[in-house]
Amino acid sequence: MNQFTNKPSDNNSKSVFITGASSGLGRQMAIEFARRGYQLALSARRLDVLQALRLSLQQAGAGQVHIAELDVRDAAEVVRVFGEACTALGRIDIVVANAGIGNHGRIGQLPFERVRDTVDTNVIGLMATVDAAMRYFRVQGRGHLVGISSVAAFRGLPGGGVYGASKAAVTNYLEALRAEVRGSAILVTTLSPGFIDTPINQAAKSRPFVIPVERGGRLLVDLIERRVQTATVPAWPWALVARLLPVLPAAILARIR
Ligand SMILES: NC(=O)c1ccc[n+]([C@@H]2O[C@H](COP(=O)([O-])OP(=O)(O)OC[C@H]3O[C@@H](n4cnc5c(N)ncnc54)[C@H](OP(=O)(O)O)[C@@H]3O)[C@@H](O)[C@H]2O)c1
Repeated sequence: MNQFTNKPSDNNSKSVFITGASSGLGRQMAIEFARRGYQLALSARRLDVLQALRLSLQQAGAGQVHIAELDVRDAAEVVRVFGEACTALGRIDIVVANAGIGNHGRIGQLPFERVRDTVDTNVIGLMATVDAAMRYFRVQGRGHLVGISSVAAFRGLPGGGVYGASKAAVTNYLEALRAEVRGSAILVTTLSPGFIDTPINQAAKSRPFVIPVERGGRLLVDLIERRVQTATVPAWPWALVARLLPVLPAAILARIR
């Protein structure tokens, strides 16, 4: 049975490359893009999980689904895997740099290997993905680069030092890229989710305003299709939180656990 009955006819089978597609937001965006008729190139470290996802997508009537094992911390591998995806699908229209991890703990208490791994994955891994995509988009003359940041980018929060810093780096990097490609046919979108129910935060003590992953995936893909430049996800209450966080007095910030 084809569950993907609402495929649009006007997207001319666009293709999307997603990192971190084996779980959470990446997985849900893959399902959502497939439903909307896109060709998929999915990557993550766990190939067996991607194989199972490809099977279920194809059984549900998805179009082409290319999968590849990829650790985004290895920049040379990112170039190789992205190149293979371009060949497999003929072209890539959208790249979603989504892979990320969330290590939390106070500075000087969180083991430093986990600090380094957060930066290697969330910053270097994303930059490697963006770099490979941009080299391709500049030759192609067009493309849509999407980076998954976080509302954690808007202020350094106790216990969230390295995660927030990694996402602030993502937001800042993509802002620079957006300015660089302004006026061209290359578009840069930065999406900053609040809490969306995925394994990255399921052990957290508190998850204010958390939304189900199905809704999160739908909202993310809606925003990508609307070709927005920046957005919090969902807009309410996170757009307001994003404005309030930078002006929150340090004494109140320090009370956050
Ligand atoms: N969920 C939220 O509330 C929330 C809020 C703000 C921002 N975000 C961001 O959204 C993105 C996705 O997170 P999620 O919530 O979907 O978490 P998740 O369910 O834990 O998924 C993380 C994904 O990243 C992949 N990944 C981790 N390290 C990787 C590496 N070195 N190389 C390649 N892939 C790697 C994982 O796949 P493998 O383990 O198979 O490699 C997995 O597919 C992250 O960038 C996260 O910071 C999430």
